[in-house]
Amino acid sequence: MIDGAAYREAMARLAGAVHLVTTDGPGGRAGFTATAVCSVSDTPPTLLVCINRGASAFPAFDRNGRLCVNLLAADQRAIADVFGRRPMEERFRAGAWDEGRGGGPLLAGALAAFECRIVRRVPAGTHDVLFCEVDALAGGGGDALVYGFRRYHALAAEEAPAEPPRLDRALRAPSHALL
Ligand SMILES: Cc1cc2nc3c(=O)[nH]c(=O)nc-3n(C[C@H](O)[C@H](O)[C@H](O)COP(=O)(O)O)c2cc1C
Repeated sequence: MIDGAAYREAMARLAGAVHLVTTDGPGGRAGFTATAVCSVSDTPPTLLVCINRGASAFPAFDRNGRLCVNLLAADQRAIADVFGRRPMEERFRAGAWDEGRGGGPLLAGALAAFECRIVRRVPAGTHDVLFCEVDALAGGGGDALVYGFRRYHALAAEEAPAEPPRLDRALRAPSHALL
């Protein structure tokens, strides 16, 4: 049996995109920083998010049944830290937020925002895997933010298309500083 610390050490070498996963509704507004997000299918458009059931954000996601995956840009590492380490009451004071089409919350300046319905939940160890159908998209442009080796890195836009194809609608640039 592999021990948890060795597993986490190996997984620290897996670089991944950084997201703020957010929710709003009867269960309240909540959000957390996540790398455990990936695409499942494009028919219907579906992604998955792994959330720790012990996280302070969990009850809100459980009750609301909706979420928004905000894919962060390289200049958004400060807000990634806020949503990963600061108490919930401080998190939404950072950034500029929009309700989007389905309640969001959408983060201004994100590379892409996926508004979703949670259609299936599968418990796995300490986490729930949330399967989410995407019903609205928004997006901006810029360099990507990546987390690996326990720190943030920028993935330069020169290695990505200079003009990313337009999504359903544009996300406005942040109107004020993140912190
Ligand atoms: C870079 C980074 C990636 C993270 N990825 C996840 C993730 O995929 N799933 C998850 O449940 N928590 C993830 N976390 C932890 C949460 O952001 C948050 O710290 C955790 O839910 C504890 O929050 P709480 O203090 O509000 O309970 C990540 C944190 C960081 C900094």
